[in-house]
Formats: sequence, C-alpha cells, structure tokens
Amino acid sequence: MPNLAAAPLWWHSFQFPDGTSVKGSKDTLKEAADWQLNQSWFQGQRVLDVGAWDGFYSFLAERYGAKEVIALDSYVWDTLGRKEGFLHAGRKFNTRVRAVHCRVVDIDAAVLGQFDRIIFAGVLYHMLDPFLALRKVVSVLRPGGEILVETHCEQLNDYPALKLFGRVQLGGDSGNFWGPNEKCVVEMLELVGCSAVKTLRLGSRLVIYAKQDRPASSRLHLDDHRQPLASRAALSPRPAIEKEQLRARI
Ligand SMILES: C[S@@+](CC[C@H](N)C(=O)[O-])C[C@H]1O[C@@H](n2cnc3c(N)ncnc32)[C@H](O)[C@@H]1O
Repeated sequence: MPNLAAAPLWWHSFQFPDGTSVKGSKDTLKEAADWQLNQSWFQGQRVLDVGAWDGFYSFLAERYGAKEVIALDSYVWDTLGRKEGFLHAGRKFNTRVRAVHCRVVDIDAAVLGQFDRIIFAGVLYHMLDPFLALRKVVSVLRPGGEILVETHCEQLNDYPALKLFGRVQLGGDSGNFWGPNEKCVVEMLELVGCSAVKTLRLGSRLVIYAKQDRPASSRLHLDDHRQPLASRAALSPRPAIEKEQLRARI
C-alpha cells in the first residue's frame, strides 16, 4: 500500500461525464492504455475488480459494456475507511457497479458466483500468502474466462522466484510483502489452471492476461489434506472444465 498519510485523497484519476476531473496519485487514464485494456475484453462480460479502491477499473469495465461489475475491496474501504472516492465516482458515472466488502482470502464462489473477467491489479504483493490469494481469486473465474494480473515484479533470473520484503521494504511501504519475478507469476497461474496469453513488462510492473483453460494442478491437493472436502472444492471448482475436456476427447 502506498504511504497513505502523505497521499492525496484520490488514488485513481478520473474524467467524469459532466466534464469535471480528478487527479489522483496514479494516472489511471494512461495506465489503462499501457495495460492495453480495450472494450472487447469487457463487452457483455461479468467482471470482478479485486482491490478496486476508487473503482477506476470497475467503472471502466462498465463503460466498456460489461453486463455486470462487482468491485471488491477491504483494506482501504474498511480498515482505512476511505471509500468516498469510489462513492463519488460512482455517483458521477450513475453506476450500477456493486461494491462488495470482502478480503481476498474470504472470496467465495458460493457468494459471488463466477466471472468471465477478473482484474487483479496491484494486490498480489500485498498478500501475506500470494499463492493462496491467487487460488482464491481464480476460484471465481469461470472455465474459459480471463484474468488480468498486474503486479510489482522483480528482475530475478531463470527460475520462478518470490522475493520477501522483510527488513527491507519495497517503496517504504510496510504493506508490500512479496516481489515475484515474471516466471513466478506465470507458473503460479499455471498451477491454478491458467495460461498466460499476453504479457506486458512496464518498468518494474508486470501485466499478464491469462486464460483459465485447464483444471488446477492436482498437486495443489497435497497441501489441502487437512481441509474438509467441501473447502477443497471451493478452492478448485473445476468439474465444468473437466467435462469440457472429456467431451473434446470423445
Ligand atoms: C495498490 S492498491 C490497487 C488498487 C487498484 N486495483 C489499482 O490497480 O489501481 C491495492 C488495493 O487492494 C486492496 N486490498 C489490500 N489488501 C486486501 C485484501 N486482503 N482484501 C481485499 N482488498 C485488499 C486495498 O484496499 C487497495 O484498494
């Protein structure tokens, strides 16, 4: 998390339909272009924006024709009590985006349903357990759906690696715990059943679009053995995809 004591009120920048605008800490208008977010990715889709904050990407998805958008957040909205930007922008856009107050680790397909598109931007490195967080997020991605993962990325070599920010903090922010390299993000995605379809390297940031195109690795159950079967299924609900693959084989 950035240093919020020093931050202005807004994290995201907006241009509203009534001609007014807001300059936040991030130039989100440029960032959305850098991420190559386009209308066709959202059109007609059910979208989840994980860690939505002021909601720029939720409202963009809605403007780009998403059929339903859920903005999910917890830390900034609840712990810091800073949801006024999201509410203000929502009024300006006369939005139907639904806000869900939920921690990533509490994401539950039985409550949220499944999504065609998920934006998981700027959140992975804040998670105490980034792999569990990614599993939770992907557990609500429908088979064939796509996720955009955006993260700080370390330039480590060769093997999939995750750097711990323990004594040395990233950007002076105690809420940053992990710096994955690109291979780490790609292979974590593969383990949860997603293949990278597009990768963008933007300085120290990484954007990966990935498609959920196979069952999660059966290796994941090796660490689920003390959980009841029901919660294992919640982390890896893959029967639909298995059925699809079976049909393809017949
Ligand atoms: C760096 S901001 C990214 C905001 C936005 N996604 C973007 O890319 O501009 C991280 C966001 O994740 C949210 N967040 C952090 N930890 C969370 C958690 N455990 N569960 C849900 N949201 C969390 C924060 O509240 C904040 O809105």
